[in-house]
Amino acid sequence: MERIVLEGGRRLNGRVKVSGSKNASLPIMAACLLVDGPCDIENVPRVKDLQTMCQMLRLLGATAEYQGQILHIDPAKFSDQIAPYELVKTMRASIYVLAPLLARFGNARVALPGGCAIGLRPIDQHLKGLKCMGAEVVMEHGYIHAHAPHGLQGAEIYLDVVSVGATVNIMLAAALAKGKTIVEHAACEPEIIHLAGFLNALGAKVQGAGTSRIVIEGVTHLSPVPHRIIPDRIEAGTLAIAAAITRGDIIIDDFPMEDLTALERKFVEAGIVIEPVDRNSVRVYRKDENLASVDIVTQPFPGFPTDLQAQWMALMCFAPGRAVITETIWENRFMHVAELKRMGADIQIEGNSAMVKGGRVLSGAPVMASDLRASAALILAGLMAEGETRVSRIYHLDRGYEHLEQKLAALGAKIRREPDPGI
Ligand code: UD1
Repeated sequence: MERIVLEGGRRLNGRVKVSGSKNASLPIMAACLLVDGPCDIENVPRVKDLQTMCQMLRLLGATAEYQGQILHIDPAKFSDQIAPYELVKTMRASIYVLAPLLARFGNARVALPGGCAIGLRPIDQHLKGLKCMGAEVVMEHGYIHAHAPHGLQGAEIYLDVVSVGATVNIMLAAALAKGKTIVEHAACEPEIIHLAGFLNALGAKVQGAGTSRIVIEGVTHLSPVPHRIIPDRIEAGTLAIAAAITRGDIIIDDFPMEDLTALERKFVEAGIVIEPVDRNSVRVYRKDENLASVDIVTQPFPGFPTDLQAQWMALMCFAPGRAVITETIWENRFMHVAELKRMGADIQIEGNSAMVKGGRVLSGAPVMASDLRASAALILAGLMAEGETRVSRIYHLDRGYEHLEQKLAALGAKIRREPDPGI
């Protein structure tokens, strides 16, 4: 195993480019299984979760190979194989293959994902949607066995909770279903709009993506088109916070400003400037020497993203004053608090809120990453802590960030990856 070792106290300076979005790539890769031919997908980041998705597509008979910067996905030999627990447990978004299997074969056997460090992660809304469309679903031996003997039919589906994953699975199922599907209380995330754009380019009929009501008119086939993945809004936000924490001054290219409005507003309140330098680039720096403490509440889009909550907490450790951070999406997403406290942070948890008393000097320490975004938060805190921070269990980071430590090093951080002798 590997760890990241960093020496705090260096201001970041320079220019950095955001990679393609992991969470936008996953639905697109699943959607490729619905197409009557191969698709070339550009800007897919080389991160572990997407390698796992490639593995899943291959297990199901499809081709998924990188050709230079392009991921080539050919579903010609896609077949109704089992999506096994060994893969699903390492990456819950592999549940996205459920809808394509059902749509193409009327039959799907996919392992139940189970929970993870940040929460229970139920899939009841995915199944509710598919059942409304005519699927029969039984759970057996830890597997979902879904069966649509008469094919999938368009339906009116009301989601009880706003779920990105359920909205994706229903859109994928509805694209080739008979008739019209209406999803009410749908997720509005940029990744949903991106998926709708891809499906429509393939010949699907999807309207309303980005609002809470999505209407999909089923079509009989989808024709291949090349596609480019949008930049990763969470990586972009993480890099911007890195600049703010270190009193740096950086330019971020491929910054998806429209997808980060909530973060931008909170930056203004905290005294961080984020200004456009040209169409897709921004400059980030602190307006004043001190940061202001700013509360956040995580919410579905366009609210403050839960995937930036841990990073915001790291930032607030350096803001003199009190900031209350409330997590409403995942019930167990404060695992980074104990590790930040090991670095000297003053944080108290009460229910689903954490109160950060910021402005103390953090000291570098050996810490352990508990999940993907927590690992980024620990690195951010380490960038401004006194002395050396060693972040272990870095495989969490590698699930979703492409070369984060190399990007930070290029901006002037003293950071390296090395084998972890402890594990
Ligand atoms: C996606 C993102 C993840 C992000 C999350 C919320 C991907 C691969 N992952 O996860 O990084 O943190 O959105 O923005 O894109 N829920 C149910 N029943 C369901 C499905 C979800 O109760 O059937 C609940 C979940 O427990 C959670 C909330 O709904 O409390 C949001 O979950 P969801 O939007 O589905 O998250 P994911 O799609 O898994």
